[in-house]
Order: sequence, then C-alpha cells, then structure tokens
Amino acid sequence: MRMMNSKTSSQSSNMSNNTNDTIPAAVAAQDLMKKVVARSGELTILSGLDLQIKQGESAAIVGTSGSGKSTLLGLLAGLDQPTSGQIHLVGQRIDELDEDDRAKLRGQHVGFVFQSFQLLANLTALENAMLPLELAGRKDACERAKELLERVGLGERLDHYPKQLSGGEQQRVAIARAFASEPQILFADEPTGSLDEETGEKIIELLFQVNRENDTTLVLVTHDMALARRCDRVLRLHNGLLKNITDSDREHAP
Ligand SMILES: Nc1ncnc2c1ncn2[C@@H]1O[C@H](COP(=O)(O)OP(=O)(O)O)[C@@H](O)[C@H]1O
Ligand SMILES: [Mg+2]
Repeated sequence: MRMMNSKTSSQSSNMSNNTNDTIPAAVAAQDLMKKVVARSGELTILSGLDLQIKQGESAAIVGTSGSGKSTLLGLLAGLDQPTSGQIHLVGQRIDELDEDDRAKLRGQHVGFVFQSFQLLANLTALENAMLPLELAGRKDACERAKELLERVGLGERLDHYPKQLSGGEQQRVAIARAFASEPQILFADEPTGSLDEETGEKIIELLFQVNRENDTTLVLVTHDMALARRCDRVLRLHNGLLKNITDSDREHAP
C-alpha cells in the first residue's frame, strides 16, 4: 500500500490541552454530553466524558451493549452533534461546524466502518469501494478500490451486489471502502463483528498494517478481545464516561 501523504503541521497545532505532549491529538473530546429524547423520557447516553487519542495511536472502546459506543464513535467522527462539549478532529473544532463543513472534513481525513456496513444496495462491491474516491476526484479510483478489495480477500467478488454477499463479505467491502481514501483517522464500529475467527484475524492484521505504514489513527469499538489487545489503549465506556483499562482488567472486558 502506498504511503499516506505527509500531514500538514497546522492540522494539529491548536490543541490547547496538549501542551506537554509532542505528538498531537488526532481526536479529542472535552466534557462531551449526549442526551436524546426517547419514548420513556430523556436519556443521557454520554455524561461529560473526556478523551484524547494521539495521531498514529490505536484505541479500542469496549463496553456493554447499549453503553453508547456507537453514539460516541459517530460524534467523534462528526456524523452527529453533541448536546454539549467540544470535539476536535485533526486539530479542528468540529462541534461548531455545520453538516456541510463536517462532511468536508470527514471526506478529507476520516474513514468510517459502520456497524451496519451501510453499503449502497444498487452498487457492486467495486462501485461501493470506489465511491468516496470518485467523490474526491481521484483518477485511480477503480485501481485503488480493486487493490483494497483484493487485500480484504474479495478480489473474486468485485461485481457482486451487497445482497449477493454474506454479512462478513459486506463488512469487508465496508472496510475496503473506508481504507481506500487513505484516511488519517479510521473509525470502525465492531469491524470484526460479522467475521469468522480466521477472516477476523486477517482484517486485524490489515488494520494494524495500515496503522503502521500510514500512521493512521485507529479508533475501534469492539467486543473482540483479540482486537482490543492489539491496540495501544483500551477504554471502557460505562455510565456515559470513559475509563482507561489496564492489562489485568482487559481479561474481563466484554
Ligand atoms: N436517537 C436515539 N434516540 C433514542 N435512544 C437512542 C438514540 N440513539 C441511541 N439511543 C440509545 O442509547 C443507548 C446507546 O446506544 P448505542 O450508542 O447504539 O450503544 P452501543 O453501541 O454501545 O450498543 C441505547 O440504549 C440506545 O437505544
Ligand atoms: Mg453499537
């Protein structure tokens, strides 16, 4: 895989809470709060959490089902707006941006693998993986998407539509699509959730290979302890707050 373009230093220069650290934060949240109105009344999903993930770092977010992991990932990636608090992505404050500006920033810096894959049903595997590259005007869209699909083991499935693919194959198309544009930060919501152990292991290898080669920041939600253990840090989301968990705690993480 090609090395990622060098990053501009200005992208991360205005992280005020990062003064003692030479590695800039790729993702940061301060006092992040998310409340939603559910049928049963107001629900606090995130209750003022703080987080800093450095450029090139890999972090796993674990927690029980319904603890707010997907909500947190969506907020950090600029897919959703917090109720209050600040979010910085590649040194830019995103909670104050409108949807168009957040979309632009996502297009430039972020790859996202959704828990539900979110492939377009009327596009083939290849067309799905090519789409973000075409939107970015990349002339090598087809070639690059093919290369990534081959790397996730789908070289023989390029012309298949999502409904002609298994859950695990769809997940791999979603991963290829997220990697194709060489994002500086990759968010992935349970990226090995639909994969058997062997395929999961291959995808984990790919994630960390890209992390090493391109200095990609990885923020992963997972129940897969084989994956969490490979990350530089494991954070547990509980009662709307994040806690760093240590090696001995990791054995008991869900
Ligand atoms: N827009 C929403 N309206 C009402 N409830 C929501 C909304 N989004 C999430 N929730 C609830 O918030 C909780 C956290 O959801 P989620 O972030 O998907 O958890 P996780 O990914 O950890 O399983 C769940 O109980 C979910 O039902
Ligand atoms: Mg979830």
